[in-house]
Amino acid sequence: MSKLFRSSVRENRKLTTDHYLITLRPLKKIRKPKPGQFFMLSVDSGLDPLLKRPFSLHRWLGGDFQLLYETVGKATNILKYKAPGNVLEMIGPLGNGFPAGPSKTGILLVAGGLGIAPVFALAESVSSRRPLLFLGAKSRKEVLCIEKLRSLGIRPTVTTDDGSLGKKGLITDILIDFLSRQSSTCLPVGKVVNRYRVYACGPKPMLREMSRITKKFRLKGYLALEENMACGVGACLSCVVNTTDGLKRVCKEGPVFPAEEIIW
Ligand SMILES: Cc1cc2nc3c(=O)[nH]c(=O)nc-3n(C[C@H](O)[C@H](O)[C@H](O)COP(=O)(O)OP(=O)(O)OC[C@H]3O[C@@H](n4cnc5c(N)ncnc54)[C@H](O)[C@@H]3O)c2cc1C
Ligand code: FES
Repeated sequence: MSKLFRSSVRENRKLTTDHYLITLRPLKKIRKPKPGQFFMLSVDSGLDPLLKRPFSLHRWLGGDFQLLYETVGKATNILKYKAPGNVLEMIGPLGNGFPAGPSKTGILLVAGGLGIAPVFALAESVSSRRPLLFLGAKSRKEVLCIEKLRSLGIRPTVTTDDGSLGKKGLITDILIDFLSRQSSTCLPVGKVVNRYRVYACGPKPMLREMSRITKKFRLKGYLALEENMACGVGACLSCVVNTTDGLKRVCKEGPVFPAEEIIW
């Protein structure tokens, strides 16, 4: 099945000054995307911007699907003006997505800023397993999806850098506190391993810290990386990262990698 398709915009809703939620209807049947997979999206049929841009699956609506995006540059500032009925060219779903863990392990989800875009998709798909979600952002206005998470029965632990919502500080510090308590109250240190799987997406420094944390607590962790991409389909090598298994393409072998594999 070709992964190239066109979608019509159903809705393009402004959530905050810089964040939008776009709902798309594919004009042909596409493969059901997995949480953690992404789409390459062309915001214009002209030459500028020339390249498609990658966006994670945010929500699958059984045919229609949603992307959550932040306006940061040329393409996203064009995308925000797309209205119902406009048609966008896309490729996807691409990449590997988050792997499912054993059904008995607890699930810890960690999202930094816009990392909630793919993490929400995963949260929704595993909501019956009562995942714990740790959500960090710079400030209150960048804390997204709280109501939607609550409707899934998930009450995220929130931190903001400036303390405007939740606890002031880094979400990874809260995660460390949580894991330290789990280790010292329930299990010998280092034996949290079989109890939880951790899945994370966010800015690079947060993901680097997640690698350190999963190593320290001997947890199995998976990180969704967001490297700059030109082709999105494995051809241009613009998205390679260094791993314990050599260079890998984020668009093809990723974007989700075992935390211990990434060499930062
Ligand atoms: C697998 C994957 C999934 C993504 N999912 C989402 C998503 O769900 N929602 C969302 O808003 N964004 C997502 N991104 C980032 C998104 O692709 C970029 O924000 C977008 O390409 C910017 O395009 P632009 O033309 O508006 O900005 P540009 O003019 O291309 O860039 C503006 C600024 O954003 C930076 N930037 C561009 N691409 C990235 C990137 N991949 N990671 C970090 N910084 C970048 C540039 O360095 C520059 O500083 C994802 C990226 C990847 C690789
Ligand atoms: S973006 Fe071209 S190889 Fe990954």
